[in-house]
This record gives sequence, C-alpha cells and structure tokens, in this order.
Amino acid sequence: MHIAENTRGHAQELLDFIDASPSPWHVVATIEGILQAHGFVRLGEDERWSLQAGGRYYVVRGDSSVAAFVAGRGSLDQTGFHVVGAHTDSPGLRLKPRAPHTGEGLTRLGVEVYGGPILATFADRDLGLAGRINLRSAEGIKTVRVRFEEPLVRLPNLAIHMNRAVNEDGLKFNKQTELPLLLGSPSAAFSPGEQFVALLAERAEVDSGEIINWELNVYDTQKGVFWGAHREFIADSQLDNLASCHAGLTALNALSEPLRTCVCGFFDHEEIGSESAKGADGNFLSDVMERIAHAFDLDAVGYKQALARSFLVSADMAHAYQPNFPAAYEPGHLIQVNEGPVIKSNANQRYATDSVSQAYFMSICDTLSVPYQQYSHRTDLGCGSTIGPMLAARLGIATVDVGNPMWAMHSCRESAGVVDHALLIQVLQAFFQR
Ligand code: CO
Repeated sequence: MHIAENTRGHAQELLDFIDASPSPWHVVATIEGILQAHGFVRLGEDERWSLQAGGRYYVVRGDSSVAAFVAGRGSLDQTGFHVVGAHTDSPGLRLKPRAPHTGEGLTRLGVEVYGGPILATFADRDLGLAGRINLRSAEGIKTVRVRFEEPLVRLPNLAIHMNRAVNEDGLKFNKQTELPLLLGSPSAAFSPGEQFVALLAERAEVDSGEIINWELNVYDTQKGVFWGAHREFIADSQLDNLASCHAGLTALNALSEPLRTCVCGFFDHEEIGSESAKGADGNFLSDVMERIAHAFDLDAVGYKQALARSFLVSADMAHAYQPNFPAAYEPGHLIQVNEGPVIKSNANQRYATDSVSQAYFMSICDTLSVPYQQYSHRTDLGCGSTIGPMLAARLGIATVDVGNPMWAMHSCRESAGVVDHALLIQVLQAFFQR
C-alpha cells in the first residue's frame, strides 16, 4: 500500500491538531489559531457585524463552540449556505467542583462521567488534566486555559489476583466508588483542596488566591501515532470527532472566493445531547447564519430563500468493521478503514440522511473519483446519533450524515485510517466549491 506524502501530511496535521487540544476549550483555541493564520477575523456576538463578500470570519460561543465562514461572492438568497458541522467534545471524565479528597493514605480526585466513554480504557493510562480556570482580576472574572502536559493522575487496575474474573466478565468500574483518580500523597500542612489549588496556580502561573474555580477534563497524555504494516492507520484520543473538525477546517481554509457562503459549525456538548447555549440543539448556528444574512441586507424572506438553497454535511465518525467481532455488525454494510468516507443512514432519523441528500454526497464523490461506503447499524442494536438531525430540524435544510471509518469509538485511544482523512478533506472542499 502506497500512501502519498500529501495524504500522510494531512494525517500528521490531524494528530498534531488533536495533541494540541486536550479539552473542548483547547480545541477551539487551536482552531482559532489556525483560522487566524488563514486570515479569518473574529466577530463578537455582542457587536454589530459588517461583512465583505469573500471575507473570512469566525464567532466563538462559550469558549468551546465555533462557527467560521467565508462569505460567498454570490447573492446569498440565490446561492445559500454550504455548511459542515462537527463536534468539539469527546466523552471521558471531568473533575467534580470539590474533587480533591484524602483518605487511607492517598489524595484522590472525584470525577463525573462525561457522555459515554469506554471507562475501562482509562485504566492504567498516563492521564493529564486540561481545561479552564476562572481568576479574580481587577477587571472582573478572567478565564484562562490550563494544561498539565505530563502524566498527573492515574486509575490503576486491580491486580488480576483480586479480580479473577476480569477476562471473562470484562473490566467494570462502579462510577461513584471506583473511578476517583489517584493524585498523590497527602500533605500534613495543607488540605487536599489547598494542595490542588496550589498545583493549579503553579501550572497556570498565577497566585492561589486568584483562583475562583475550574472546569477540568481528564485526557490521555500519549501522543498520536501511525501504526500498521504500512503505517496506514492512526491512533489517538478524540478522533471522534476532532478528525471531522480538522477535515472541515482544512477544507474551509483552502477556499478562495467561493460562490456560496461556506460555513463550519463545530459544537461542544454533542456527547451529552447538544442541549445547551452553545450546543448544536441551541441557537448558535442559526443565529450566526441569520446575522450573516442581515449583514448582506437580506430580509426575513431572503434569509428563508437562502436556507432553502442550503445544504449541511454533518460530519462525525463511523463504525469500521473489526473482524474479531463479526456479530456486532450489519453484514450488508461492513465499513472498511481506508476505503473512503461513510454515508450513514437510519430510517428512524438518528442520522439526517435521506436518499436525496445521500445521492448528492455520492455525486460529489463520483466527480472526484473518491470511493464512499454506506453504513447502517444492526437492526437489533440501538443506533447512535449526531448533530445532523438537530441542525436539520432547527434550520430546515437538506442534510447528509457522513464520517470517516474508525475503530473503538469512545475509547480513550481510538484508531482510524490515514487515507480516509485526506479523502474527506477533498470531498468537503469540493462540497464547499459546488
Ligand atoms: Co461523535
């Protein structure tokens, strides 16, 4: 298997993107840096916008959702929006507000489960913490990001001598009692809370007294890698769904003066249902699109005309076939890694795809001679969902759910294909340019 240099380059960029982004707040900061390097200008939701055709802009809501767009040269009511949607969050563990506690000779951190991670994959890994902290300052509350780059906490397994059935029954954790993370030895002089604040203050290079509170994500400090006989696969955390964010962003950056207004909407809170001020089930994207329409002097009818001519590609990862577990898959819809982007459909609209939107996506792939695959979940298993159906319902625009093949979705260490990533970038770029 030969992998072109450019194809591997995109995969390497993806791994770098993920490794720079250990929490959804870091994801948006990384995206912001890339957007600024490509000439995008930040707009505030609290400001009035004046936009130029061909201009590049982005809007951030709540530090962890972002909408970026290139204003089209065509009249918006006649050309509409071409939108790529994805999510910035990944399932895992989050620290509780009063996480540090001491007992039986160790300080531990209480955690909540965020979304639906495979909890067992967090055991025995070199875990760090990353997120944001709020500081007291003369100007009011100041929010800064913080990251422990080195392994800081750990969830050691029980030895097999004390858990004899682990290989038969699987590794199970009681979420309340067995997930707290080991942090260190207790101090005689300071409470576990004081110790932890001191640790945060040192890392954030602020005074302990400035720290009000924090929101911290537990992440795997191991960097992304290539693997396989031809290094044709990648492994990293958060491939679901930072791979789709990176593909959409790369496609958007490559545009120059598109006819249509091209938008990337990347949302936090997908893994917990998207119902929040910045989630895909909120008004963030519709607000941004409506304000773009107003900035180009469209009235309410003109905006609806634009929506009627719009299309959304909801990009989220898809389940690739793992041959050790044949019974988990629909035999007629086996998805192979490195054989192209996947169109996901579900008659119950867990995915927003219908035959028409599917045909449209297929036609883009056909034009580029990019292979595509079609996924359907087993009928006797509950199907996951994406932001596709919510955005489609909110905006009323034609939508297709797609995504690249991956193994071990929601593991702390997921895998995907080098070739697929470059193919998806190519397809999304062609979609923007249609
Ligand atoms: Co996802």
